[in-house]
Amino acid sequence: MENSTLLIYKAIGAVQNIISNATTLDEALQESLKAIVSHSGSQGGAIWYADKSDGNRLRPFYWIGPVDLTRRSHVPGDGSVGRVFESQKAERIFDFNPLEDVETAIDFAGMPVSSMVCVPFSNNVEDLGVIQFVNGPNSEPFNDEIADVMEIMAMMAAIAIAENEALAEPWQPGEIVMELRDITREFQNGDIITKVLKGVNLDVYEGEFLVLLGESGCGKSTLLNIIGGMDSATSGTFTYLDKDLSNATQDELTEFRRDNVGFIFQSYNLMPNLTALQNLKLIAELVENPMDSDTALEVVGLEERKKNYPSQMSGGQQQRVSIARALVKNPKIILADEPTAALDYATSIEVLQVMEEVVKRGTTLVMVTHNEEITRMADRVVRMRDGRMHEVTINRRPAHATDLVW
Ligand SMILES: Nc1ncnc2c1ncn2[C@@H]1O[C@H](COP(=O)(O)OP(=O)(O)OP(=O)(O)O)[C@@H](O)[C@H]1O
Ligand SMILES: [Mg+2]
Repeated sequence: MENSTLLIYKAIGAVQNIISNATTLDEALQESLKAIVSHSGSQGGAIWYADKSDGNRLRPFYWIGPVDLTRRSHVPGDGSVGRVFESQKAERIFDFNPLEDVETAIDFAGMPVSSMVCVPFSNNVEDLGVIQFVNGPNSEPFNDEIADVMEIMAMMAAIAIAENEALAEPWQPGEIVMELRDITREFQNGDIITKVLKGVNLDVYEGEFLVLLGESGCGKSTLLNIIGGMDSATSGTFTYLDKDLSNATQDELTEFRRDNVGFIFQSYNLMPNLTALQNLKLIAELVENPMDSDTALEVVGLEERKKNYPSQMSGGQQQRVSIARALVKNPKIILADEPTAALDYATSIEVLQVMEEVVKRGTTLVMVTHNEEITRMADRVVRMRDGRMHEVTINRRPAHATDLVW
């Protein structure tokens, strides 16, 4: 490890800078956690908020690590996070033996924990929650110096944001629609094997708007294709509702896809020799319980264009037809891979407004994008890095499409 005094000054400096520039407590905490995790080389970190409407049950709204904590919660007094909230005293565990203390071992959604620091935070009026850091670099234990920085961060956040805006109700995940565990995907070309997904643990919740973000090549499209049954994982388990599809045959995947999933791509893939309405009707005939094609065109605001061929429509209009085509299946879940990448700003907003409407109607939407601004609309944002989930944010105040600017 680098000279630890230097490291501490750097981390404190970074946190100070973040907190003086932050406009909300959420932002102050989130950015500080990110800075400390990166300075200390921690393997994970999470911010747990007390849900005042539910006996101060602690729920996560932001975390870093290859795990899905969305549905995890702690009761005050129970486990390290719960104890720290109740006592308002930090806890440091540097040499944790998972074999001896099973309860703490599962604290970070199955990620083995050898070292942990939990710090309470408040806004000087009431106790708000707990910040948790898990495992130093290469699973090495934390030391007291870095634990001091973690405590100082929580205090600084509390002091700097004296006037805390009212906290929004915490977002509550719906039922789990899809469950992915330890999903890997390798591609073989001759003798060369490329590992693209390296162990993804993700749940998708009923009715949520989930945005997947990450650098080009990190595996977003590969993951989306597995979620949609267009591709199979090399290993791991994939469950849709109560159905285990981990070892599904091609035919079973085709059936799953046809009955439950709608797709939207960057290229609209409409049939050029069919009108907008005919493009929809073609799909409606293939499924059991379709939405009326005219209604689907109304949802996307194109009822007047139903007799137009794709070549007679703008890019944004064609993309809206392709959204309507996904809707016509009445799917439980819609998957969109960079649906606005080929569109200009104004047209993108039009398409995103339609997406917003789709989610409002109760459809689960998973969207891949490169556009950071679009993350503001999501209920949850999953950032991927090198084939794994790296960071998850739960937006407690999702923005409207019309609020986005780029
Ligand atoms: N069929 C395949 N055979 C070999 N390699 C593949 C295959 N499909 C994807 N890959 C590789 O897997 C990696 C991840 O690809 P993927 O398309 O999932 O990335 P992505 O995150 O969607 O990137 P982008 O943002 O550029 O769309 C890339 O390095 C890609 O070259
Ligand atoms: Mg892609």
